[in-house]
Amino acid sequence: MTDPYDPAREGAQMSFDGRMSYGDYLNLQKVLDAQHPLSDAHDEMLFIIQHQTSELWMRLAIHELTAARATLQEADRRPAFKMLARVSRIFEQLNNAWDVLRTMTPSDYTTFREALGQSSGFQSHQYRQVEFMLGNRNIALLKPHAHRPGITALLTGELAQPSLYDVALRALNQSFPLPDEVLDRALEQPHAESEAVAAAWSKVYRDPQTHWELYELAEKLVDLEDYFRRWRFNHVTTVERVIGFKRGTGGTGGISYLKRMLDVELFPELWHLRTDL
Ligand code: HEM
Repeated sequence: MTDPYDPAREGAQMSFDGRMSYGDYLNLQKVLDAQHPLSDAHDEMLFIIQHQTSELWMRLAIHELTAARATLQEADRRPAFKMLARVSRIFEQLNNAWDVLRTMTPSDYTTFREALGQSSGFQSHQYRQVEFMLGNRNIALLKPHAHRPGITALLTGELAQPSLYDVALRALNQSFPLPDEVLDRALEQPHAESEAVAAAWSKVYRDPQTHWELYELAEKLVDLEDYFRRWRFNHVTTVERVIGFKRGTGGTGGISYLKRMLDVELFPELWHLRTDL
């Protein structure tokens, strides 16, 4: 009989006494100890992990968006394109994740929905931060975080900074001067669609060779919004499939609220200019 295969013979490290292992580096004990179902329902674990993993991916999206926004304000903007491409892929990852959640039927969900109380993704501060960073700003949505000063400060701080689209427009302004009301707008509000911005982006799209960097930036933004829209659409469809037209645990009308969010346009001029090209 031959000895069982032992990777240690090829040099695999097998002893971690006093050394940092995989689990130590990733702080896995904490991560894997953070799932605490409040009911005995089998599907509650799926529900918790689906939300927690989404929050982890959002954490990475915020990390990338923060760096992309800073880089777009530097002389060489190109490294930002790679970060923005990554954010789109993160949303694609989140889009694929709905397939797992969709295996939960309305019958399964009702076995633990009551345990959620009034908690809802509506109160996800990271999601709100992503929205604020991208430019969908609404101070009314700070309210669910009023009891958490740290989170309120984070979101308020975000509203005081230019959004990703604002910095893109400042870059556009260097080639095609834009009106002051676009550049010096009240930052805590959403960007208001502007004919001057649409005209400037149209010039970029009519001559991509001359304005390649702006053209690439614009397409990276459209790509990002495209994937984000798919996330919203997948969410609303999954929600309808699971709770129909019931009110949300967060207190909104549910589907009516989420459908309204489908109308949000983050970078409106970039979508509208296509009709006239
Ligand atoms: C069966 C699964 C799900 C149901 C039934 C559901 C239901 C809802 C409903 C009804 C709302 C509207 C607010 C409210 O009144 O509660 C909402 C908002 C939200 N949900 Fe879900 N959801 C589900 C899964 C998820 C997952 C996996 C995530 C991932 C993080 C998520 C993130 C969010 C976010 C971020 C919002 C706020 C959207 C906005 O303000 O535009 N939801 N959800």
